[in-house]
Amino acid sequence: MRNLPMAFRALFSSFLILIGVGYLMALTYMYVVVIQPHRQMGEGLVAGISDQYHGSANGKTLIESALMGPMADKISVADRTIVLQWVHDGATAGGYPQVAPIFATDCAGCHMADAQSIPPLTSFGAVQKVARADTGTSLADLAEVSHIHLFGISIIFLLTGAIFALSETPIWVRVFLVVVPYLTILMDIGSWWFTKYLDPAFFAYVVVVGGACMGLALAAQILIALWEMWMAPLRTASSR
Ligand code: HEC
Repeated sequence: MRNLPMAFRALFSSFLILIGVGYLMALTYMYVVVIQPHRQMGEGLVAGISDQYHGSANGKTLIESALMGPMADKISVADRTIVLQWVHDGATAGGYPQVAPIFATDCAGCHMADAQSIPPLTSFGAVQKVARADTGTSLADLAEVSHIHLFGISIIFLLTGAIFALSETPIWVRVFLVVVPYLTILMDIGSWWFTKYLDPAFFAYVVVVGGACMGLALAAQILIALWEMWMAPLRTASSR
């Protein structure tokens, strides 16, 4: 690949590096939004993923989803743990006095008693309404996320794969590394669905393994291509 025109090497390298950084961002997002909050509730990676897509065994609630997602930055980690624990324990009236001050200081500023478009969080009765069970990511959400991912990621892998296909690695390595990401997308997204409808634990493993294989294949494509473009010894036409 060192023989490619300089402008192509510069373009390909910039693209690959940006994709690599983007992937790391995606991992960070995944960690902060999905994994860390479950960790804080004392759940492992697999249990966290299965909860996310399947709903938790004892029923995940709107308030848990909000605190692990869009509302995560509205509350301190310690307070969130207290609230999540309270919800986990059944969101009882008996435990409410302990969490009421947290809602009052962190949430009621926006979630006021007369709030219209968002649920009020100013009394036990109001909070209780968002503390009822939820069954994981909804069908509509899954379909939305799936198709965005399928279209978006398949184009990304088309481009990284097309660049990598120019490399001078053995042909089976090239074929393997351009196909693996597509297989793992199918595995990964397929298992989101299966995690929802079938045994959650098994398919949560598939999500993790599929995601890991995808990351490794992408990293290999990027690093090998960059290495060949800039570091590998120059080859003359006769030595190809
Ligand atoms: C800065 C204003 C603000 C603060 C503070 C805030 N929220 Fe929210 N909250 C919103 C808005 C706006 C929405 C609706 C938009 C969205 O879903 O992202 C929302 C949505 C929610 C929802 C989901 C409602 C639904 O129907 O999906 C829950 C539950 C929730 N918040 C809980 C909380 C809790 C608990 C706190 C305190 C730790 C809190 N919020 C703090 C503004 C706020």
